[in-house]
Amino acid sequence: MMKQNLLVKIITLLPWLILFFIITELINANVAGVEGAKKSHGAYNNTNSLKLFVFGDSYVDTGNFLNSGSYNPPYGISFPGKPSGRFCDGLVLTDYVASFLKIKSPTPYALRNSTEVQYGLNFAHGGTGIFNTLVDGPNMSVQIDSFEKLIQQNVYTKHDLESSIALVNAGGNDYATFVLKNGSFQDIFVFTESLIKQMSLNLKRIHELGINKIAIGLLEPIGCVPMITMRSSYEKCDETSNLVSQNHSQMLLQIVQQLNKQMGKSVFMTLDLYNSFLSVIAKMQKRRAENSTVMNPLQPCCKGEDLKYFCGSVDNKGARKYSVCEKLESSLFWDTVHPSQNGWYEVYLMLQSSLGQLIQEKNF
Ligand SMILES: *[C@@H]1O[C@H](CO)[C@@H](O)[C@H](O)[C@H]1NC(C)=O
Ligand SMILES: *[C@@H]1O[C@H](CO)[C@@H](O)[C@H](O)[C@H]1NC(C)=O
Ligand SMILES: *[C@@H]1O[C@H](CO)[C@@H](O)[C@H](O)[C@H]1NC(C)=O
Ligand SMILES: *[C@@H]1O[C@H](CO)[C@@H](O)[C@H](O)[C@H]1NC(C)=O
Ligand SMILES: *[C@@H]1O[C@H](CO)[C@@H](O)[C@H](O)[C@H]1NC(C)=O
Ligand SMILES: *[C@@H]1O[C@H](CO)[C@@H](O)[C@H](O)[C@H]1NC(C)=O
Repeated sequence: MMKQNLLVKIITLLPWLILFFIITELINANVAGVEGAKKSHGAYNNTNSLKLFVFGDSYVDTGNFLNSGSYNPPYGISFPGKPSGRFCDGLVLTDYVASFLKIKSPTPYALRNSTEVQYGLNFAHGGTGIFNTLVDGPNMSVQIDSFEKLIQQNVYTKHDLESSIALVNAGGNDYATFVLKNGSFQDIFVFTESLIKQMSLNLKRIHELGINKIAIGLLEPIGCVPMITMRSSYEKCDETSNLVSQNHSQMLLQIVQQLNKQMGKSVFMTLDLYNSFLSVIAKMQKRRAENSTVMNPLQPCCKGEDLKYFCGSVDNKGARKYSVCEKLESSLFWDTVHPSQNGWYEVYLMLQSSLGQLIQEKNF
């Protein structure tokens, strides 16, 4: 089924190579300053003891990747108005989930101090995965180790954890690493199985540490990120790549159902990023068909002047080598990999009914 001639393979591979180039460049970019990240922004006051603990990658990281491009302009231009360590122009999924729970977005683990842990902590780190990736950061197991250490130090009590929620999102960088190291999607199905197996162990561990509500992101349609859609001039998603996301998501869903059966209660629930992204894309494409001045959802808002550059690039004289679109407010993607604040908001709207399950059964 995956049999392809060499040319097709190379064409399939190319966007991933470029994708990795960009990820690497972003990471190697210099730090601009971290003051912005400490600013909290919750729209609500905390009226309960609920805490949110977050594990995973750049889609949920809010500032743990200190030496990355997420701390350089133009990241953070919409919120908080300067770079804050989010791989976005503003708020990301974690922030919207926290606002749904009526708590402040949890402090990034890298920026924590003893007075800032009452809303939980965010252990997610851009570029990382379930397994080790080409990015030198803590994989999800190591992120959970950090969480476990804090529990051993009594930073959180058993009661704290019983009324807490975990948000987990990873996998995209594992697939990028697989393709870049192996050269193709060959045997990807076997790899998906091993990824899901490890994810299952991670989820059980988070529960065993005392958290009774765990939301897990299904994999976004990786064939729709602009770095991949670029080769169709941003006209369509790559179906082969999306099949990988679809299979991953289906297997994850099955594992979650199995785990809940084992537990005899619904500890684990999924956030269907796969179908949410596709719905948002369809909605935006429809809007665009009626009004051609609306932003194409498969196009990045911020991008390099040419293939050598990326969102945030400057030359050795400090001159900008990127551009930011005018219609950021109607975009889905901020850069070539990450949704914009508007994109995350639209996706969040699709996830709201699922998120309701997190607070429905009152275990706190
Ligand atoms: C939040 O609640 C505390 C305690 O009730 C209060 O002192 C504080 O002013 C409130 N903060 C906001 C932003 O409403
Ligand atoms: C810890 O965070 C609080 C609240 O943001 C801040 O006032 C305080 O200065 C911080 N302490 C350290 C040691 O960073
Ligand atoms: C996570 O990273 C640690 C440290 O590099 C490594 O020992 C461990 O095997 C990794 N775990 C997985 C599941 O890949
Ligand atoms: C390369 O593919 C093999 C299976 O064919 C898999 O076991 C391995 O994990 C892959 N390498 C990476 C870096 O993902
Ligand atoms: C998707 O899943 C089917 C089995 O349900 C499998 O045969 C196929 O190889 C998988 N494809 C990918 C790209 O993982
Ligand atoms: C088309 O969309 C733009 C915003 O992108 C808006 O300013 C304009 O009013 C819209 N035109 C119509 C006819 O709806």
